[in-house]
Amino acid sequence: MRGERLDKLLARLGLGSRKEVARLVRAGRVRVAGEAVRDPGFHVPEGVPVEVDGKPLALRRHHHILLHKPAGYVTSRTEEPSVYVLLSGFPTRDLFPVGRLDKDTEGLLLFTTDGELLHRLTHPRHKVEKRYLVHLERPATEEDRRAFAEGLILEGERLLPAALSWGEDPTWVELVLREGRFHQVKRMFQARGNRVVYLKRLALGLLELGDLPLGEARPLTPEEEGALYQGVGLFTECSQGT
Ligand code: URA
Repeated sequence: MRGERLDKLLARLGLGSRKEVARLVRAGRVRVAGEAVRDPGFHVPEGVPVEVDGKPLALRRHHHILLHKPAGYVTSRTEEPSVYVLLSGFPTRDLFPVGRLDKDTEGLLLFTTDGELLHRLTHPRHKVEKRYLVHLERPATEEDRRAFAEGLILEGERLLPAALSWGEDPTWVELVLREGRFHQVKRMFQARGNRVVYLKRLALGLLELGDLPLGEARPLTPEEEGALYQGVGLFTECSQGT
């Protein structure tokens, strides 16, 4: 078998456009079976290890599922009703949630079998953005916006700056966080003397909930997967042969 063109393979794995990856290859940054290959048209035989800048592209196939979590489900495998019942039809072995949503929170919940990806997406060092739609008991204020932007002090610890915005109605706001502490959104508004009455996560990094119906789950597209890995400084896994 001839295998797949090197530039096509690298682009498919999210390392850049065909043009960008061709540049990478010509610069001698890509090794196939331990040998530098400078021809973007080189055909990589199936199963042969590929490295970029000395980092191997993992060969194991991981999978990632995006769920539109409804309220009323617990982000836990053991507590009932578990979000895992919403993943029927997908293999759930070794599939872990990337962070948690409270039982009464709706929205984007990502699951992955890749422990390194999970670690990076949840570690504050990578500052992966999480965007929430929040309905508040009382209107948000300019002072709230400023306090969040400066980094709110919560129980003696300063949070990372968070972006608060709203349109016509300041009881419906969007909040972008770059970390994910326990009940963080609710605690931030509570610290400002307000209360969250409805909470939905709309986005995680470049992943958007989009029009995925409530209660439904779908695998990530290869483009989403590539962008997710790149966003946290990883190369997506090699999915040759799948
Ligand atoms: N912040 C919260 O308070 N709850 C969630 O479920 C997510 C973020």
